Amino acid sequence: MLEAQIHATNFDFESYLKERRKLVEDRLADYLVEQEPARLWQSMAYSVLSGGKRLRAMLTLAAAEAVHTSIVSNARGATMGATAALNEDGSEDPLQIALPCACAIEMVHAMSLVHDDLPCLDNDDLRRGKPTNHKVYGEAIALLAGDGLLMLANEILIEHTSKSVAPANLLAVALELSKATGPSGMVGGQVKDMEFTGAEEDGFDIATVESIHAGKTGALIRFALWSGGKLMNGNAEQLASLHRFGEILGLAFQITDDLLDVTGDAQTLGKTPGKDEATKKATWVRAIGIEGAKNKLSEMEAEGSALLERSMLDNKDAPVLKALLKYAIHRKK
Ligand code: IPE
Ligand code: IPE
Ligand code: MG
Ligand code: MG
Ligand code: MG
Repeated sequence: MLEAQIHATNFDFESYLKERRKLVEDRLADYLVEQEPARLWQSMAYSVLSGGKRLRAMLTLAAAEAVHTSIVSNARGATMGATAALNEDGSEDPLQIALPCACAIEMVHAMSLVHDDLPCLDNDDLRRGKPTNHKVYGEAIALLAGDGLLMLANEILIEHTSKSVAPANLLAVALELSKATGPSGMVGGQVKDMEFTGAEEDGFDIATVESIHAGKTGALIRFALWSGGKLMNGNAEQLASLHRFGEILGLAFQITDDLLDVTGDAQTLGKTPGKDEATKKATWVRAIGIEGAKNKLSEMEAEGSALLERSMLDNKDAPVLKALLKYAIHRKK
């Protein structure tokens, strides 16, 4: 199994993934307890609590821990001014501080999937191995559930982070979440994706694909990493490294998604493969072929790993960020 192969050194990545997913999923379930109007909350919960790799949430938590560890080892912990989310010994707990933000990102991500699957966009029937939201709840509720998740994400971030993070840092994180999600981020990328849907292979180039990917997928992944560091009051150098690492991982993640659309099967993927070719999407595979895409991924894995070594953000004994990069690239779903 892939997850077992990523024992980067002596740490058990498979158990790590399992434990982190549970942490994130339990908290998401708390945030999505049914309220009125019941059908709206059921629809939101259906798409958020339907599985998924939780990669973005794990990136936020891992980045928060990485910066926290480096702050503690440099004895600069007192700069943060946290008043809540403490460990039993009174030290700050990066997981508790970053968890609401990690969940907010998963909500925005789920919203993007619900809307991406609508008939007016990719028109998909299968997501995470289940019928898509609009197939179960109808298009109107799916649309509104997406809107609801978008704003609930913001609400959760602000309400549940305001006691543990200095106001200026929280404001910066909320601002960047808006940018990563909106017209200069995910939404803008989705529009470019749509504009190039139906294009012949000579109708777009690598730069176009890269710009689509950076928006529709890269922006939120980049934010996931950066926000974990910012919530922990990371310094400019750490934040710049996390930002760059996020660019690399985000692009690699979407190239892998494009590859899996060609090489994967519905049972494993939990979504219908072959759609990119059928609808002529501007993907990496259509631009430079399967081998070209794989070569690009190898380059990105090397670049991301080198950056982690230079920045010294990753934990030497448990190189989680490196393992998450490998996972984003070598996953089978
Ligand atoms: C799917 O994202 C949409 C893309 C941006 C490619 P994921 O592959 O992370 O979806 P889940 O959350 O694991 O279902
Ligand atoms: C989706 O990209 C990106 C967002 C949802 C923002 P895709 O359309 O390639 O994702 P899948 O393949 O449907 O998961
Ligand atoms: Mg799409
Ligand atoms: Mg899609
Ligand atoms: Mg895809």
